[in-house]
Amino acid sequence: MLIKAGEHGHLAQLLTFMVLGEQLAHDCAQAQISLTSEPGQQTFLAGQARQEGYHAMVFQGAIRWLTPRVQHPSLISQHMNNYRGRLESAIARQDFTETLVAEQIILEGLGEAILKKIETGLVKRGAPFQRLRRILIHQEEAHHQFGLRILTKMLERDEVSHDTLRDRTQEYLPLAKTLLFSTQDAFYAIDENPQEYWDAFYQHLPPWLQTTSSPAHQPLSS
Ligand SMILES: [Fe+2]
Ligand SMILES: [Fe+2]
Repeated sequence: MLIKAGEHGHLAQLLTFMVLGEQLAHDCAQAQISLTSEPGQQTFLAGQARQEGYHAMVFQGAIRWLTPRVQHPSLISQHMNNYRGRLESAIARQDFTETLVAEQIILEGLGEAILKKIETGLVKRGAPFQRLRRILIHQEEAHHQFGLRILTKMLERDEVSHDTLRDRTQEYLPLAKTLLFSTQDAFYAIDENPQEYWDAFYQHLPPWLQTTSSPAHQPLSS
């Protein structure tokens, strides 16, 4: 899988995707602090925001190491901005539940699936910084589990319905799939299939958020 000669630019493109995701996760976690009144959740979110800021720096450092030239990730940025726009409108409406679905469940779940799959290839090749990567994956898992715990509690207390959560999820999934496939050229260039990454993410979603079929993504030319 990673990293053969000539693949640095493609890998940098995938890492650019991760940087933009980390920046969005940072901004969202920071904003979510004011959307909950529970001190334990506020403390977790403040810690998450710090970690996401650090993750973004780690990936930016890796990109600079791979390709000293400035990257122009226009297509990825455009689709990440679409996702960001919808998430920011949920923040503006103070809809904590929707932000949890969009960030901790979908974005974190996707990031976690990508990191785990990339990790398999990196371990096979004896790549350095294994401990750092393990910490990063562990933190992303914790962010995803945090969202799942709160939503499960909300369901138990009848503060939200399964239908509402499924509806919110279905609004964000096509955007997330389009986002992932905006990097498809880079995936194929390193002999990876983005559909396998999507499937790994989707199968990891709790059954109560899944529908019978995985959503289509929007055309990349849009
Ligand atoms: Fe992160
Ligand atoms: Fe995260």
